[in-house]
Amino acid sequence: MPDIQIMPSLLAADFGHLAEGCHRVEAAGADQIHVDVMDGVFVPNISFGPDVVKMSSAAVKLPQNVHLMVTRPQDHIQAFAAAGSDTIQIHIEAKCDVEETLAMIRALGKRAAITLNPETPVERVFECLEKRWVDEVLVMSVHPGFGGQKYIASVESKIATLRRMADWVDIAIDGGIDDVSVLSAAAAGANLFVAGSYLFKQDDMKSAVSSLREMAQEQYCKAL
Ligand code: DX5
Ligand code: ZN
Repeated sequence: MPDIQIMPSLLAADFGHLAEGCHRVEAAGADQIHVDVMDGVFVPNISFGPDVVKMSSAAVKLPQNVHLMVTRPQDHIQAFAAAGSDTIQIHIEAKCDVEETLAMIRALGKRAAITLNPETPVERVFECLEKRWVDEVLVMSVHPGFGGQKYIASVESKIATLRRMADWVDIAIDGGIDDVSVLSAAAAGANLFVAGSYLFKQDDMKSAVSSLREMAQEQYCKAL
């Protein structure tokens, strides 16, 4: 059974003090740090580039979980791999050859992940699992582009379908995760939890990370 892990999103950190944000995540006992990369085309917002991943990987020892919300991920894999990414997530909706781009990620020694937007049917990622092109699937529970949005619970049926298909794969959920949504997401079979605004607004991020992990552990796969 895949581990339950909590991944705070750097997008919710104070942009004036990003390295401090990374240290805060590490000191809180998080399992990985999630870095949201947005190109202003695939999503309306623009956020970080490879230099931020480079800074983050130099600042902390945590695995760098890098979410590419970009139109042509194939043009940027090399740069993000060289910057210190450990997992690289591309979108199934991107304009790329998905098999080739995932293979490119693995050829650089990184974990490969496929991501799908809330409105994208789960069937679109079946081949990635069946052919084992990925180590992780990221299910978006908000429309990508911004932190602090409302959790879309209807994506949980996609998580349940994926978990029934593959007990070996890491299933991540991203968007609107807090002490309520974590319960049903874990019950549906998610084991990796991205949380941005919920964790960064805590006075005590460490106890929030531990309690999210405990709640998820308790609920994991209960709904299946
Ligand atoms: C949204 C990003 C998320 C975001 C989550 O496009 O992919 O990772 O940081 O933020 P919260 O947890 O605030 O919804
Ligand atoms: Zn993300």
